[in-house]
Formats: sequence, C-alpha cells, structure tokens
Amino acid sequence: MRKCSLVFLVLLLQLSAIVRAQKADADVEALIRQMSIEEKVGQMTQLNLDVVCEGGIYKLVEPHHLDPTKLREALLKYHVGSILNCGGHAYPLKQWHELIGGIQEVATKETRLKIPVIYGIDAIHGANYVSKSTLFPQQLAQAATFNPDLAFQAAEVTAYETRAAGMTWNFSPVLDVARNPLWSRVFETFGEDALVCSRFGEAAIRGYQGASTPIDNTHLAACMKHFLAYGGNRTGKDRTPTYLSEIQLRELYLPPFKAAIETGALTVMINSGEINGVPVHADKNILTRLLREELKFEGVAVTDWEDVIKLHLNHKVAPNLKEATFMAVDAGIDMCMVPNDYDFTKLLIELVKEGRISESRLDVSVRRILTLKKKLGILKNVSIPNEQQYPKFGSSAHRAIARKTAEEAITLLENRNQTLPLKANQKIFVTGPAANSLSLLNGAWTRTWQGVDTIWDDQSNNTILEAMLAVSPNVTYAPGCGIDTLLNLTNALNLANQSDVIVACMGEKPSTEKPGDIDDLSLPRAQLDYVKALLKTGKPVVLVLVENRPRLVNEIADQCAAVVMAYQPGDTGGDVLADILIGKVNPSGKLPLTYPRYNHSLMWYDHKYTETFDTQFGNKAFNPQWEFGHGLSYSEIRYTDLKLSAPTLIKGDSLTVTLSLSNPSDREAKESVLLFTRDHYASITPSVKKLRNFSKITLKPGETKTVRFSLKAEDLSFVDANGMFVTEPGDFDIQIGPLTTTFKYVLK
Ligand code: GLC
Repeated sequence: MRKCSLVFLVLLLQLSAIVRAQKADADVEALIRQMSIEEKVGQMTQLNLDVVCEGGIYKLVEPHHLDPTKLREALLKYHVGSILNCGGHAYPLKQWHELIGGIQEVATKETRLKIPVIYGIDAIHGANYVSKSTLFPQQLAQAATFNPDLAFQAAEVTAYETRAAGMTWNFSPVLDVARNPLWSRVFETFGEDALVCSRFGEAAIRGYQGASTPIDNTHLAACMKHFLAYGGNRTGKDRTPTYLSEIQLRELYLPPFKAAIETGALTVMINSGEINGVPVHADKNILTRLLREELKFEGVAVTDWEDVIKLHLNHKVAPNLKEATFMAVDAGIDMCMVPNDYDFTKLLIELVKEGRISESRLDVSVRRILTLKKKLGILKNVSIPNEQQYPKFGSSAHRAIARKTAEEAITLLENRNQTLPLKANQKIFVTGPAANSLSLLNGAWTRTWQGVDTIWDDQSNNTILEAMLAVSPNVTYAPGCGIDTLLNLTNALNLANQSDVIVACMGEKPSTEKPGDIDDLSLPRAQLDYVKALLKTGKPVVLVLVENRPRLVNEIADQCAAVVMAYQPGDTGGDVLADILIGKVNPSGKLPLTYPRYNHSLMWYDHKYTETFDTQFGNKAFNPQWEFGHGLSYSEIRYTDLKLSAPTLIKGDSLTVTLSLSNPSDREAKESVLLFTRDHYASITPSVKKLRNFSKITLKPGETKTVRFSLKAEDLSFVDANGMFVTEPGDFDIQIGPLTTTFKYVLK
C-alpha cells in the first residue's frame, strides 16, 4: 500500500510541475494575446534611468529623482518594460527604493496591462551602485583563487544586496575569455582560460540565481556577457574587431557560455564588437543559429549600450537607424538597451506596420521577456523592499566573504631571499600611487562607472598604507610618484634610505571600456623610473601591483626582492595585503593569465609549438614575466608521487590521476592544484599545454594529502577541422606542478 501511495505522490508532483509550467506559459500567452504592437515593442525597449529623471541625460538634478512627466511618457506612451543603470553614481538604499518604487507604482497601477518593469544594473563585484554595499575583488582576482565556491558566495551576497535595493537583473558575470592583455576589461573577466571562465561563470550564475522557482527575493537574474568573443579583439582596444577561426570560436570563446546555458543562465548580453567583419548585434548566424538553434538558449538576449545605434554610426553596416533596428531584431536580439531615446521603439513599430518585421517575431521576444519576469516572480506584482527587510546588507558576515576571497586571490609572484613575510621590527617605507588609494583597490564599476571619483570612496576601509600603519609601528610614507608623474623624489628617497624595506605599491588608474584603452602595456614610465630610483638605494623593494591588466614590469621585476600581484582586491584589499606582507595570511593565489614580459611577446600559456622561440639559437622557448598558474606560498608545497591508475586510457573508460602534496612549513597553506595535459600529436596543431582540471586544498603544517582527479577522453578533446570536439588516439602528457607523466589514449 505504502509503495502505491509513494508512486501516486511522485506522479502528482510531476503532474503539478507540468501544470505549473504550462500555467507559466498560460499567464504569458494570455498577456501576449492582449498586447498591442506598441505594448510588445515597449517590452523590448530598455531605457537608461536618466531618461525618466529630472535633468538632462548624464546631467541629472541632484539628488536624482523621478520626473513624473518623463516617467509617464516612458511607461504610458511607449510602454517601456525595462530600465537600467544609475544616474552616474551609487545611491543609498532609501533613494533606490524611491526611484524603483516610483517606477513600479506607475507600471503596475497606471498602465493598461500593469506589467512591472524589470530593472537591470551592473553589480559586477558586489552591488557596486548601492552605497555601503559589500565590495568584492574584481573577477580577475576571484579567478586567481582557483576556488569557484568563493565566486558562488560573492554572487549570493551581490544578489542579496542588489535585491535589497529593489533590482532583479544583474548584468553579470562577464564570461569573455581575455586573450589580449592590453584590453581595458581584462579585470572584469575570469582570465585567459576557457575552463577557468566556465567553472567560475557557472558558480557565479548559481550564486546569482539561486535554486528556487520562481527566483526568491534574495536572488536575481544573471546575464552572461558579452556573447561572443569580445575578449578576442585583435588590437587590445575595446570594441574593436575580432578575427577568429571556427576552431578558436568553439574551443576558446564558446565553452563558458555553453556551460552557463547548461547552468540555467536566464539572460545574455551581446558583444558590442564584431567577429570577422560582422557586428555581433547584426549576426543572425551567432544570435539565432548558434545561440538558439545549436545551444538551445531560451532566455532573453539584450543588446549592449547603444549597440543598435552603433550598427549605423560605428560599424557602418546600416545606412540609417531604421535599417539598424531591422538588422538587430532580424538577427535575434530580444531587448534593446537603447538607452537614451525612443528611436528604437518608434522605428520597430514602423517596421512591424510595414510588414518587414512580423508581429509573430515580436511575440518570440516578448514571450522570452515576460517569461523572465515570470521566473523572477514579478510578472503580476512586484514589491519594493524596505530597509529592514535585508538585515545582512553590508554586514560583517558579507565582508568576511569578500576578505576571504581577497586572501585567496592576492598572488605572490617573487620572494627572493625570503624577503616576505616582513619581520616585526623592520622599518617599512610604504610608497607609490596605489599605497593610499581606495579607488585603485576597487577599480572601475565601483561607486561610479570608471571608479575614479574618490569622493565616493568609503573611508571606513583601509588603504594599503592605513592597513600597514595598523599592523606595524615602524611605517613611513611618501607617494614618490603618481600614476604617471614623478612627485617629490627627494623626500621619498630620504625616507627610503632610512628604512629597512620598501613596499612600492604601483598601479593603474581605474578604467573600463573605451576610456581604458592604452597604446603601451608597460607600467607608466614615471612609476618604472621611480622604482628604479628606489632600487638604487640598495634597500629590498617589495613591488605590489594594483592593476586592471598585466602591465609590463620587465625593467624592474627581476631586481625587486619580492613581487605581489594584488589585482583589484576590493574594499578589504588593503587589510588583506598587509596581512599577507606580515605573514598573518599565507598567500595561495595563482595567475589566471599569462603575465607578459615584453610588448611584442603577448602570448598565452596554451600557445602553439611554433609560437615559441627556437632554443637552438640561445633563446628561451617561452619567456613570459610569469606563467599562467604561477603563484608562491610561504610554505613551499611539495608535489610528489604522480601516478595513473593505468598506462592507457581506453575510450569510454576513465583514468584516475593521483599525487601527494606536502606542507613542510609550520603554517597552514592552501594550494590550487592545476592539471595540464599535452597532446603529443594531433590533426590540428596542439597547444603546448592545456588546463584540464583544477582543485584547491588546505594543508595543515606538516600535513600530506593525496589529490585525485579523474580523466576521460572528452577531457583531452580539441576542436578539429570540422568544428567538432574530438579526442584522437595517441600519446599524452599530464603535468601537475613540477611533475609529468605520460599515457596513451586508445579507441579500444
Ligand atoms: C556597458 C558594458 C556592459 C554593461 C552595459 C550596461 O557598455 O559593455 O558590460 O553591462 O553597458 O551598463
């Protein structure tokens, strides 16, 4: 009897899930049936907040507030379904509640169909546009932890604190694989490797969206971006052309998005650039055939900022805005981030009424948009939170996660003569443009878009200098130089000469997108010259790098006693760096990108054999400043006993890879264990190595642990000349740390 009732219960649950799913469709279909063309096009329109506030675009009246007339023009006349962004800087929770509450009040009470607005924001390292929110290390630093669970936790906190402000859509994570170190947005990515970007992207999306249906009020819709191959631009200048083979597209740029779709990402944002001469916003092959038909993505595709306009003005593939509108909608976008006018809205209505775009094509996008609102639980009603509803907002518990992430991110690159950790009684001279700056620690997308407006810094956080002063009584300070100008050298060098050790915090001005374009990857000349002057004092120099991307330091790095890559570690970064420098925290970060040595040797870790120098002529084959995956610990972890469960991997089977890691030191250590493979020969030129798996372990003082990986044929695959992932039989190496072993892969 019990068994029958159990079976009946399971059937009942399955039936209700089907009914619920159909009900979801029924709600959406019922709305679509009622909607006019204008209302459908309005749902496909996304406006910048400025458009509905008092004042001019980018010149709002402070404190920013809604303009009732403009708001009703947007929602009642144009039926706009989505609004994004802030008016140029962060707001406190209360102001967000007023803004979004006012918008939703009109949307749900005065429009004909009362469909709430979906509000989108860039909350890319915490809820950066919400004052007093928790700010995390930027994505590149998160990747350096090689611990995706930290990205999951960061995303959960970010979702919670973004929902606290009343927003339900986050334009994050960036899943672009960063393959040009010059690019201004390297810091926003999870680095140069597709597997790392995939694993961290999945973790972030799970953290943002949670596991409940509909999404609960502490999670939100994620947005995988920027589809596709935005990080592959040839020149390193933002939004410039990417030239790709099908092999590179599928092997390198596609996997993180494929993984994100399999994880359930609800939305995607399109790459503003072009691939092989076709702007992605106008590329039906990418936006429909690949994204929809091959990858089966059913979520909402939103354009990037002004990217329909850019088809006309920038890419010049559309002679006017109307053709640009046609091209983008025909290619497959669902929502246009216009975002500062109603041209898209008006032109798309014209195109439908002329019959060039069918109403059924509108229905495809409107269905996705309304389904998204349904999945967020905001299709029929939406509540605006009060300040008491999110008690953990900006809490110490949230801050502790940001701190833990920074601790596992900051990467020790050189430590000559055990310069670090610093000794207790040492006289420390702290200097450089990143020494006393919170904005450099956070980077762009902080309380403002570019992150350079220090008035928004939350002074309750410590700069590196303030953190050093808190941990040592023997600290002196002088900036010595700015980002690109020398300052009072005499004073700085006097203090340097009176010290035992110099902590030189060099860095990069926060920037992103076009403002962040550079024409020389070198660290600015003034900073290089200043460090050289410091080196001339003969004192040991600890070089700390606080930067968006790997700026060249070949003129100084080899002479420095120690080098630490801090990336942009967020609000807790100053304290964490100080704790690492004094040895309170044992560093465990590893580079998620290749750190180049020279301007014209910008190579990736997984380069081809023919891309290296020929050693027979006295050159080192591959000579970056620091390799992908490089990172030191104070514990000097030992790798031994690399073993395989068999000398041959047979198709359909798996190989177990084991090795031992020992911690000979007297301090606890964390270690990221990276498993690379090398395909000896293949029908497509093989990379010299390829990351195939990674895991992070903790080792107590003196502890030895066995690390285990399982390897299958698909883990060895590459994309062949037919654009398919294949694994060809033959010899392979496995390389983990300093250990290498070989095995054969056979078909039977
Ligand atoms: C920007 C960025 C994109 C961001 C969007 C909205 O241009 O390219 O990453 O999400 O605009 O701010």
